[in-house]
Amino acid sequence: MKAIILSGGKGTRLRPLTYTGAKQLVPVANKPILWYGIESIVRAGITDIGIIISPETGDEVRTKTGNGDRFGANISYILQDQPLGLAHAVKIAQPFLGNDPFVMYLGDNLVQSDLNLFLDDFKSNHLDALTLLCPVPNPTAFGVAEVDESGRVTRLVEKPKVPPSNLALVGIYMFAPLIHDAIANIQPSARGELEITDAIQYLINAQKNVEARQIEGWWLDTGKKDDLLEANRVILDTCADTDMKGEIDESSQVIGRVRIGARSRIINSTIRGPVIIGDDCVIENSFIGPYSSIASDVELLNVDLEHSVLLQGAKITDVHQRIVDSLVGQRAKIVEAPRKPKALRFMVGDDSKVEIA
Ligand code: DAU
Repeated sequence: MKAIILSGGKGTRLRPLTYTGAKQLVPVANKPILWYGIESIVRAGITDIGIIISPETGDEVRTKTGNGDRFGANISYILQDQPLGLAHAVKIAQPFLGNDPFVMYLGDNLVQSDLNLFLDDFKSNHLDALTLLCPVPNPTAFGVAEVDESGRVTRLVEKPKVPPSNLALVGIYMFAPLIHDAIANIQPSARGELEITDAIQYLINAQKNVEARQIEGWWLDTGKKDDLLEANRVILDTCADTDMKGEIDESSQVIGRVRIGARSRIINSTIRGPVIIGDDCVIENSFIGPYSSIASDVELLNVDLEHSVLLQGAKITDVHQRIVDSLVGQRAKIVEAPRKPKALRFMVGDDSKVEIA
């Protein structure tokens, strides 16, 4: 069994963050979203992994993620010239996949469930396709499945105006090699993409074994800022442990589950967990509140911040109001707030600078 992870696409929904970076590399609890998917696939015993990349962000994904050694996997990179759809990504991955059954995993998804049980189900029932589902309040934003009592999928629709159920397709699928025939027989949709939902519908229409299972636990589609902050909150809540490598001076207080990376310095500050701070950060005269993830090389001086994600190299100084629910891009700078607005909410892209005058 092999796996492909889709890490191409345009990523327009996290702009401006993804003008300069792959949305799949945006960190949640200081780890790229993509890596959670890789780890979950490896935990399920699959180590032959192909990652679909785009010309725009492929180099960044490849450089950051590497050949798989750090995950105990063997990772190949497959370039998709244009984001022509999820089924198109499978098509160009066919030389890598050969005649093997495979898992397809969308690289911007985070799920709590382990894949093992679903894989066992897929194999022992000799299924042609198994899709994972999760009930959602807003099915029109997803692919949606209609399922009968026995778990067989009767219909799939992509982003339907009138959803046939509230069961969204989580971005994880298992396929027998028969899916390649289905993909060869479908046409691009109205939005010009080869849709994997159409390929699965083709299998359903041909009376093949297509089933669905509901996942347990949380699933977070991290395409938007608030989803990303929510994913960060959930991961910090469930996974953060205490690990202090940096230096904390005597006038600082660290409370609760807090991880502080190597060479980071906490000076006259309070950190209230769950919080993760990367390597080589300087945090001075500041308060870092719960559910904050601070990547490496970040500098904070006179800052009061909570429930926020700061990417590598961000620098914030002298903002005297609390910063909440914010996502700050790589190397972005926020400086000086002489007057006092009630609250500040940011989504600041890579390399930008915000001055509150
Ligand atoms: O998140 C779950 C949803 O994911 C499903 O419910 C939908 O059925 C499915 O179509 C998909 O919808 P999205 O609108 O979220 O897809 P998105 O364009 O964000 O692409 C998902 C991932 O696949 C993302 O990591 C980018 C990558 N991708 C996408 C396209 C269109 C590629 O690698 N190549 C592509 O051509």
